Amino acid sequence: MASLLVLITLCLVAVGIEGTHNVTISVLETAISRGAVCLDGTPPAYAYSPGFGEGVDNWHVFLEGGAWCGSTAGCLNRSGTSLGSSAKLISINNGIQSFSGMLDDNSTFNPDFYNWHVFKIFYCDGSSFMSDIEDVDPKDNLTYRGLRIYDAMMDELLRIGMGNARNGLANTLPTSCTSKFSPTLCFFPENLLQDIQTPMFLIESAFDQYQLSSNVYPTNAKPPRWVNCTLDLQTFCNWTEIEIMRDFRYTFIDTLKRTITDSSSRRGYFVHSCYRHGHLEDPQGSTCSSLVGNVLADKTIPQAMGDWYYDRSGFQEMDMVNNLPRNCSTAVDEATFRKKCGT
Ligand SMILES: *[C@@H]1O[C@H](CO)[C@@H](O)[C@H](O)[C@H]1NC(C)=O
Ligand SMILES: *[C@@H]1O[C@H](CO)[C@@H](O)[C@H](O)[C@H]1NC(C)=O
Ligand SMILES: *[C@@H]1O[C@H](CO)[C@@H](O)[C@H](O)[C@H]1NC(C)=O
Ligand SMILES: *[C@@H]1O[C@H](CO)[C@@H](O)[C@H](O)[C@H]1NC(C)=O
Ligand SMILES: *[C@@H]1O[C@H](CO)[C@@H](O)[C@H](O)[C@H]1NC(C)=O
Ligand SMILES: *[C@@H]1O[C@H](CO)[C@@H](O)[C@H](O)[C@H]1NC(C)=O
Ligand SMILES: *[C@@H]1O[C@H](CO)[C@@H](O)[C@H](O)[C@H]1NC(C)=O
Repeated sequence: MASLLVLITLCLVAVGIEGTHNVTISVLETAISRGAVCLDGTPPAYAYSPGFGEGVDNWHVFLEGGAWCGSTAGCLNRSGTSLGSSAKLISINNGIQSFSGMLDDNSTFNPDFYNWHVFKIFYCDGSSFMSDIEDVDPKDNLTYRGLRIYDAMMDELLRIGMGNARNGLANTLPTSCTSKFSPTLCFFPENLLQDIQTPMFLIESAFDQYQLSSNVYPTNAKPPRWVNCTLDLQTFCNWTEIEIMRDFRYTFIDTLKRTITDSSSRRGYFVHSCYRHGHLEDPQGSTCSSLVGNVLADKTIPQAMGDWYYDRSGFQEMDMVNNLPRNCSTAVDEATFRKKCGT
């Protein structure tokens, strides 16, 4: 039932606190000539914040997540949203993206990565940057060209300077996996991880909110009470449902342990029990975390990742204590949060 479907899927949570900076969203018009366009035919978009100081040779390339559209109707819906159209993205966000958490440029909030270049690629193709279909669908004028968007964005990154990078990013399915499994299976980290040479740090919740609420049951067979349970654990879940979540966690951890047998510093992980989805951008996931107790071996996610990245110490930790999903988002009032974060 459970699979290591971690990919690059992050929730964007905008919170009105210090520790964010606003970046203008850019539209890559030159991508149109190579057919690299969003579902609705608009050019793809990115937000770029230049690195500075000692960070000028380091790049944080962030591919936005947002699941797939699995049917023509679903993709058509999506083409009218920011996940399928850069025009929509810009009108909804007033052309502004705010960067926070591990994308923040303020060292108070993001001590290890604040001065890196940040290049966020908005997701608008419905297929995780993988599709490449030449013909526009005549029935609805939808375009499926995520792979071309990826390629166009990589060229743009090189143009603006990532050619000098010490830390870049390559992300295509390796033939060492696709020769053994179907491409679909190569999306699942347990099949893919062995083939990735690049050092990798995996951050995931053993009770991933999105997977539990959206993937455990097929869409059309989701019991209505399960929907309630995944919306409010405390009020609606019964023990049968909690058992399902525990099974999910067990399968996840078991798969992860079989997948990452390498205890070297090439592999790091932070597996927590907070019931949530998305960890990097959320200010609540930053150094002055308001996520209640989301600490493993005395480190928050950014601390663990920073120590791992800069070779200060390896990090392979899972929360083996909590076998119930924890609601870590317990509302902390803003004054308390600001005090804690020194603002
Ligand atoms: C960033 O933009 C948001 C809305 O687009 C605005 O509310 C906020 O004040 C801006 N923040 C800064 C620091 O400019
Ligand atoms: C498309 O959007 C409409 C309106 O929001 C919704 O009722 C419908 O279920 C959606 N269809 C799909 C396939 O997502
Ligand atoms: C597709 O786009 C063309 C050109 O803009 C337009 O003439 C046609 O009516 C559109 N088709 C559909 C199904 O929307
Ligand atoms: C889900 O919760 C709502 C209240 O929020 C309630 O009215 C409804 O009956 C619940 N559904 C089920 C199947 O428990
Ligand atoms: C988590 O707790 C907060 C604050 O008590 C509450 O608003 C929220 O609904 C809870 N989330 C879940 C998924 O139960
Ligand atoms: C608990 O939830 C399960 C799954 O949603 C359901 O089948 C079962 O009837 C529920 N049990 C009780 C006592 O409500
Ligand atoms: C970073 O945030 C802190 C706390 O809000 C603030 O005092 C400081 O001026 C900010 N630094 C920069 C460079 O903006």
